[in-house]
Amino acid sequence: MISFTKEQFFIVTGASSGLGKATALLLNELGASVIAIARREDKLNELKSESKNPDNLYIEVKDLTEDIEGLPKYVKSLKEKYGKFSGMAYCAGIGGIKPIQAIEMADMETIFNINYFAPIFMTKGFIDRRCNIGQGASVVAIASAGAIGCDPGMTCYAGSKGALISSMQSISREVVKQGIRINCVSPTLISTDMAGEIEREYADGKYPLGLGEPIDVANMIVYLLSNKAKWLTSHNYIVDCGAII
Ligand SMILES: NC(=O)c1ccc[n+]([C@@H]2O[C@H](COP(=O)([O-])OP(=O)(O)OC[C@H]3O[C@@H](n4cnc5c(N)ncnc54)[C@H](OP(=O)(O)O)[C@@H]3O)[C@@H](O)[C@H]2O)c1
Repeated sequence: MISFTKEQFFIVTGASSGLGKATALLLNELGASVIAIARREDKLNELKSESKNPDNLYIEVKDLTEDIEGLPKYVKSLKEKYGKFSGMAYCAGIGGIKPIQAIEMADMETIFNINYFAPIFMTKGFIDRRCNIGQGASVVAIASAGAIGCDPGMTCYAGSKGALISSMQSISREVVKQGIRINCVSPTLISTDMAGEIEREYADGKYPLGLGEPIDVANMIVYLLSNKAKWLTSHNYIVDCGAII
């Protein structure tokens, strides 16, 4: 069974809803201390009130795109406040479907800022030896099965997630000697705010085990953050009930 202690601190971005919220709640339920990051304070307060161990759930309101190059300093400031981190689940992100003929540079920047640049610079902060516990530390970033399925209209979104998978794999090979493991998790459509009603209807018949729930992804993320996955690094794990390819 996976369990953590309250001395183990995990950063969870995107904790105000969907996959990040499910991950924060599960880590907290299993005994870890969670630093829950997002922009919407009211949703973070809801998260805290829903958590099993609210004393071990800490809220940090932050727009991760407002100063991306400053994110390593931000992680260091969190470390000074809470102590060294055992792990980070980067779950913040946005979707977006647009045909190539309609894409402006600004569309790409908006998606890449939160889906690609911010996780890279948060990871740069995390892997600083002063900020993590060293041996046993683990980072999980949520990419997407869309980076592999590459449906039409996914130029920006699939591009941001494909780039994330490649960069995280490269970073993992730089830091493996420090004992830090880095993996991506790539879900297909999951029932969250991001998946609108139309997409849900479209997807319903596609999944042999039914549409995924946030907890289905959170279970995989928490496993990869835990010591049970101590031999797993540098990979992208698809969570799709066999539906996408
Ligand atoms: N749901 C799916 O079907 C699915 C499938 C594959 C991959 N994914 C990926 O999984 C991740 C989570 O998706 P989700 O379904 O959980 O979406 P969601 O419910 O919309 O949650 C997105 C989270 O990202 C946070 N966020 C967005 N922009 C931010 C910013 N600038 N600064 C800080 N936080 C920000 C949001 O918090 P605030 O708004 O409070 O800031 C929210 O907590 C995304 O990367 C998504 O691409 C989702």
